[in-house]
Amino acid sequence: MNTLLEIKDLNVSFQGNETETVTAVSCLSFSIREKETLALVGETGCGKSVVAHAIMRLLPPESRVKGRIEFGSKNLLELSEKEMAKLRGKEISIIFQNPSLALNPVYSIGHQLAEPLRIHGQEMGWKEKGEKKEKGKKKEKLERKMGNTNLSKVARALKRVGFSNPREYMGYYPSWCSGGMNQRFLIAASTMLDPFLLIADEPSKGLDRDRVSELENELKGLKEKSETALLLISHDLGFVRRLADRVAVMYAGEIVEIADPSSLFEKPLHPYTRGLLDSLPERGFVPIPGSSPSLSSPPAGCRFHPRCPIKEKRCMQERPELKESNGRAVRCFLCP
Ligand SMILES: Nc1ncnc2c1ncn2[C@@H]1O[C@H](COP(=O)(O)OP(=O)(O)OP(=O)(O)O)[C@@H](O)[C@H]1O
Ligand code: SF4
Ligand SMILES: [Mg+2]
Repeated sequence: MNTLLEIKDLNVSFQGNETETVTAVSCLSFSIREKETLALVGETGCGKSVVAHAIMRLLPPESRVKGRIEFGSKNLLELSEKEMAKLRGKEISIIFQNPSLALNPVYSIGHQLAEPLRIHGQEMGWKEKGEKKEKGKKKEKLERKMGNTNLSKVARALKRVGFSNPREYMGYYPSWCSGGMNQRFLIAASTMLDPFLLIADEPSKGLDRDRVSELENELKGLKEKSETALLLISHDLGFVRRLADRVAVMYAGEIVEIADPSSLFEKPLHPYTRGLLDSLPERGFVPIPGSSPSLSSPPAGCRFHPRCPIKEKRCMQERPELKESNGRAVRCFLCP
């Protein structure tokens, strides 16, 4: 499979007060292949969302970003805001963490789902395109509400995420709907224009078990029915295992291991990955001792050394590289 997006040596830092700089992401490199689902996992605060926002170029102005994010022939970090706006939602799309915050409570679902079409100039009302005019007051009302946008495109997107009577839901408002329904609306909105890459940042967070399994089916369906690649950020390792083609493990702003899910879950190499899996309830709930380091003054050498059960003297002085072999990659002096 061809590479769709390649991140090379990405560094993201935030200037705190005068003396403190938080380096949220350090020398981070990985790629996503066409149609691939790559999962990004790791403890809270390790930099997963910062990576997602760097790809979307949605980091706040006080951030400093270095490196390359190659998407086709372009380095996203060098594009103008205007060029980036053309890409967002159309070629690369994101589902943000909290569906109720991502949707605007004062606009109908139909209006909000049509947003990507309006932004990217694909507003093709049935009148303009000469589509067969549907009769009935309900249709006209919807047309007015949605700014004469192509209803059938929105309806198709809603059908794709399991709404068999989409026109009814177009007139709904987010507060009328459950968290699971709003999550599906967001998936429909973010895949409306068939992006090459969809980033889903903690899409299952806050959903109950039934909704998580619905979401899993939506994302599986998306993988099967579309060409879209997925960058899946999640704390839910079961969810990740069932959906991902490859998993990248982050620790304190760095990637420490990349492998396919069965190798990673059956034979984790990096001591941090092993610790992360051992802390799962089904594997005995054994927590990793200590806590994540401060990103304003990370430990010298291997960032995991203060918590590593097998560290050696060298680990405290030298920084291990991410080394690739046999289709997986690991950042540890003592791993094969
Ligand atoms: N705007 C900002 N200014 C300063 N520091 C920031 C900013 N945004 C993120 N950070 C810091 O960058 C680090 C990584 O944050 P990030 O949100 O990417 O973590 P995460 O891995 O997504 O965590 P979670 O799993 O809880 O969502 C954190 O230490 C965070 O405090
Ligand atoms: S490099 Fe050393 S400290 Fe780091 S994970 Fe490997 S063994 Fe542990
Ligand atoms: Mg996050």
